Amino acid sequence: MVRTTVSVIKADVGSVAGHVCPTISMVEYAKKILEEGRETGIVKSFYVYSVGDDVGLVMTHHKGENNPEIHELAWKVFKEITEKISKPLKLYAAGQDLLKDAFSGTVKGMGPGVAEIEFEERGSDPIIVFAADKTSPGAWNLPLYKIFADPFNTAGLVIDPVLHEGFIFEVMDLREGRTAKLKTPEESYDLLSLIGTTNRYVISKVYRAKDNEPAASASTTRLSYIAGKYVGKDDPVLIIRAQSGLPAVGEILSAFAVPFLVPGWMRGSHYGPLMPVSFKKKQNVVSYFDGPPRVIAMGWQIAEGKLVGVDGVEPVDLFEDPFWDTVRQKASEIALYMRTMGEFMPARIEQEEMEYTTLPKVLEKLSSRFIEVKP
Ligand code: 13P
Ligand code: 13P
Ligand code: MG
Ligand code: MG
Repeated sequence: MVRTTVSVIKADVGSVAGHVCPTISMVEYAKKILEEGRETGIVKSFYVYSVGDDVGLVMTHHKGENNPEIHELAWKVFKEITEKISKPLKLYAAGQDLLKDAFSGTVKGMGPGVAEIEFEERGSDPIIVFAADKTSPGAWNLPLYKIFADPFNTAGLVIDPVLHEGFIFEVMDLREGRTAKLKTPEESYDLLSLIGTTNRYVISKVYRAKDNEPAASASTTRLSYIAGKYVGKDDPVLIIRAQSGLPAVGEILSAFAVPFLVPGWMRGSHYGPLMPVSFKKKQNVVSYFDGPPRVIAMGWQIAEGKLVGVDGVEPVDLFEDPFWDTVRQKASEIALYMRTMGEFMPARIEQEEMEYTTLPKVLEKLSSRFIEVKP
């Protein structure tokens, strides 16, 4: 049986009016290159989206995860957009996420974010791709836990015998570069003890315990760990398969109904609420304090290795439902409240994360002002 892979590769390669959005020409350019890739058989289908200032490529094929041809195609898209559009137009932070020069088989460790999932197609295979701007990979920990391990979020964990056996979470320790697998519900508390520390432990994959069926895959890039300094946030992506023995689409989306706080927002240095937005209604312009952080949800079916949307490959805009207006309202209120705290923690992110920003330069200037005392 042929296996299908969904690869999502994204990067911020420059934007208009600061870190707000890419130009339409950048998205069109990406489509042109991927269409060539489709014609020459590298990908079977594709879709190009933008969220805030990030451009994302959703590609389907039968080549498996981490395939050099797929990664090279994505690298070519981002490199050429930078050279041909962002730099000549002096767009803001042109080529921001391209941290290395020469491609060497994978975009991992080079700046762009990657999430990939390979599976054998079921009788019907719905997927959701989430893409966020102004935050970082740990942002998915809370919703992934709710979707795959919290019966108050996912009724299927109680009702459906296939889900009832639980899920296996692969957790990546970003600092040490290692992974561990934990099984829920048995190891829920152990899992929470790790993934509550969102800036170090991030969920990279989720599998169904009954048969190891791949259920979710998230990007885990930390730009600051590659560059050694703050260059922008990592604005993560997440792929989740749904229905028929996996959480239903509505259960997956439920995890975003209360806006939780994520790190990112202005200068990547503040906690703000993650706001679910519609991409069709153009709620995609990050404008209040460069935010608030936001997430879009794109829904497709997968058939014979291709994306099936509502009109060709055009995805369902899952946060378009008026229900989410209330959630957006709530997120705006939380955002305003968080800003009343200015630069005081916990509105500003923790000291060790600030190390990568320009704050150490300010602190350095003050170091000579201190005199020693016994605390
Ligand atoms: P599945 O049988 O596809 O899991 O769907 C159940 C359902 O009706 C969820 O809304
Ligand atoms: P991005 O990570 O989306 O480029 O945002 C950077 C930033 O500093 C916003 O204030
Ligand atoms: Mg940017
Ligand atoms: Mg961004």
